[in-house]
Amino acid sequence: MKVGNLDIGKKLFLAPMAEVTDSSFRRICKELGAGITFTQMVSAQGVIRNDFETLRHLSFSRSEKPIGVQILGNDPDILGDAAKEIAKLNPDLIDLNSGCPVDKVCSHNMGAALVDDPKRIGKIIRKMVDGAGSVPVSAKLRLGKDRSKINIVETVKAVEDNGGSLVFVHARARTDKYDTSADWDWIKKVKENTNIPVVGNGSMFAPQDVKNMIEQTGCDSAMIARGALGNPFIFSRYNSLAETGSDPGEPDAAMVLNTIFKQIDLLQKEFGELVALDKAKKHSIWYFRHCSGINFLLEKIFSVRSLNALRSLLSEHAEKILNGTYNSGAHEEIYKKFQKKVLFWLAEEDAQALG
Ligand SMILES: Cc1cc2nc3c(=O)[nH]c(=O)nc-3n(C[C@H](O)[C@H](O)[C@H](O)COP(=O)(O)O)c2cc1C
Repeated sequence: MKVGNLDIGKKLFLAPMAEVTDSSFRRICKELGAGITFTQMVSAQGVIRNDFETLRHLSFSRSEKPIGVQILGNDPDILGDAAKEIAKLNPDLIDLNSGCPVDKVCSHNMGAALVDDPKRIGKIIRKMVDGAGSVPVSAKLRLGKDRSKINIVETVKAVEDNGGSLVFVHARARTDKYDTSADWDWIKKVKENTNIPVVGNGSMFAPQDVKNMIEQTGCDSAMIARGALGNPFIFSRYNSLAETGSDPGEPDAAMVLNTIFKQIDLLQKEFGELVALDKAKKHSIWYFRHCSGINFLLEKIFSVRSLNALRSLLSEHAEKILNGTYNSGAHEEIYKKFQKKVLFWLAEEDAQALG
C-alpha cells in the first residue's frame, strides 16, 4: 500500500495504543515485520504548548521510520497548528483520533465524539492537511455513535473531500465494547464508496484473520491492535502467509522468551528500572498468554521487585513450558478470556477455576 512517500507493500500497521506503543514495543514490532508503527495518541493542545509529557509521547527516532503520529482534539485551528509542528519531525503520517470512546475524551467532543459531526471532521482534516505540508494526513474512525446511527461512509467522505490521504476504519461503534465483534461488512461498504486507501481494523488476532478480513472487504491493508499485544509475531507470520501462502505458526517458548528479553532491555533503557518493571510485567503476561502454565506466571509475577528477578522468573517459566511440566489445555480457556478484555487481567475466581 502506498500513500505519499510511504510505501509499506503488503505489510501491516501497528495500531496506536495508549500506554502500549512506546518506542520499545514499536521497535520490536518493526523488527518482526510491521510495515509502520504509531506513537501513542497525544493532545493537539499539548503539542502547541510544548507540554513535556506530550512531546515525550510523540518522540521517535529516525531509525523507527516509517511511523505515524496520532493527535487528539476538537478545534480545527489547534489541530492544524499541531500538525504543522509535528510535520517538522518528518513522520510518515499524521492521524486524527476519531475513535477514542472514553468519557473524559468524548465529553470534550473529541475522539469518537467527532463522528457525530462529519462537517467538523472535514474542517479539521482541511486544517491538518494545510499544516502538515507534504506529510499525508489520515483519520482513524469508529463506525458511528451506536449501531443504529452508523455514518462511516459520510465521515470517510468528509475526510476524502478535504484532502485526507487515508482512513482507518475501526469496525465498531462508539458504544460497542471490545467483546463485540468488529463488523467487517462496513469496511467493505467504505471501500466501495471512497477513492482513498482504506485500512481495516478490529478483531484480528491471528494471521488468517487478517487474510480473511482483507479478502472479505477488499480493503488496502489492515491495522492490528490487541492481536499484537505480546504477539508481535503476528506481523512476521502474516508477511510469510502473504508471500508464501504458509503461516509458520505460533512461536515456541524459547522464541517468546528471547523477544520479551529484548523488549525488557529496551524498556529499561527507555524508562529506567522502576517504570520499566511495571510495563515489562504487563507485556510478559501478554507474551505468555497463549502458552501453558499462564496461571503459574500470574501467581508469581506481581511480587517480583526487579527486572533481573523478572528475567529469572520468565526463564524458569519458559523452561517449564519447553519441558512440558505444565498441564496443557487450561491456557486455551484463559486465551479466550484475554481476547474479550482490553487489559486482559483475569478476575481472581477465573484464575482459581483454572487451577
Ligand atoms: C490498550 C489500548 C489502547 C488504545 N489506545 C488507542 C489510541 O491511543 N488511539 C486509537 O486510535 N485507538 C486506540 N486503541 C484502539 C485500537 O487502536 C484499535 O482500534 C482497537 O483496539 C480495535 O482493534 P482490535 O479489535 O484489533 O483490538 C487502543 C486499544 C487498546 C487495547
